[in-house]
Amino acid sequence: MPIILENVSFSYSKKTPLETSALRNINLRIEKGEFVGILGEKGAGKSTLLKLFNGLLNPETGTVRVDGLNTSSREAKRRIGMVFQQAADQLFCRTVYDEIAFGPLNFGYSRKEAEERVLEALEAVYLDQTMLHRNPFSLSGGEMQRVALASALALRPDYLVLDEPITGLDPVGKKEILETLKKVKDEGTAVIAVTHNLKGFFPLLEKIVLIREGKIAFQGTKEDYLKTGCVPLPPITSLMRELKERGLPVNPAVFTVEDALQEILRVRSVIEKESTSNTGK
Ligand SMILES: Nc1ncnc2c1ncn2[C@@H]1O[C@H](COP(=O)(O)OP(=O)(O)OP(=O)(O)O)[C@@H](O)[C@H]1O
Ligand SMILES: [Mg+2]
Repeated sequence: MPIILENVSFSYSKKTPLETSALRNINLRIEKGEFVGILGEKGAGKSTLLKLFNGLLNPETGTVRVDGLNTSSREAKRRIGMVFQQAADQLFCRTVYDEIAFGPLNFGYSRKEAEERVLEALEAVYLDQTMLHRNPFSLSGGEMQRVALASALALRPDYLVLDEPITGLDPVGKKEILETLKKVKDEGTAVIAVTHNLKGFFPLLEKIVLIREGKIAFQGTKEDYLKTGCVPLPPITSLMRELKERGLPVNPAVFTVEDALQEILRVRSVIEKESTSNTGK
């Protein structure tokens, strides 16, 4: 069963002079096991959209359902693991252990089960066990982000919702967290990530939702996204599109440097074959 949003609108500071319409008429369906990228410029409404998924915000009009459940229900909250844009904002316990164990204990799992989940989640985010007794607020920004992700993973959610999960991490951290997310997805969890880091995320994404000024400007596969000419794109894909527009017959639907290289080499060999057969005539 999916997350379904029907005709959802949301405004901040409703009926005050500061009223801001953040989302308008959103219709969206996210299936279990999908890897979805939510793209859009600053202020487009991406974070607001994520907060509607777990009932942190309620729609002004329309409905949000998680596997048919109302987002305010406890069961819906258990199914959604959330990592906020500012990871530090969601930490509140005295130790990293308590932080990660909080979700499982709160949802009624035994201490033993909670401990197993803490260790599993810690490993998934590449932190070692010496971290467990540390105060989360003494950690670096990147470590806090990993702890926030571990807390969400400890619930073994059906939908993992992340707001800029690799921003602020060093290159090794980025690579590790992307690997974790891929693994989580491969195990059947939907991963829904707001990101500006197209270079890192694009190869993993299956579906793209582009938000522009509070509305969905595009939703569909990344191949279709490419055909529409929408931006943003990863730099390597933009380059391939530019080459195609300038007459080189490459397929621009590639998202990594390695794939771009293979595609360019393929086109080169086609061109070489054609020129040899032409000179042979
Ligand atoms: N707490 C709030 N009170 C009032 N207005 C808000 C609040 N949070 C967001 N907004 C406004 O709602 C709109 C959408 O904001 P949102 O944070 O969802 O955008 P975003 O796409 O996540 O942007 P960014 O890429 O900068 O994180 C913006 O106009 C923003 O100024
Ligand atoms: Mg945001």
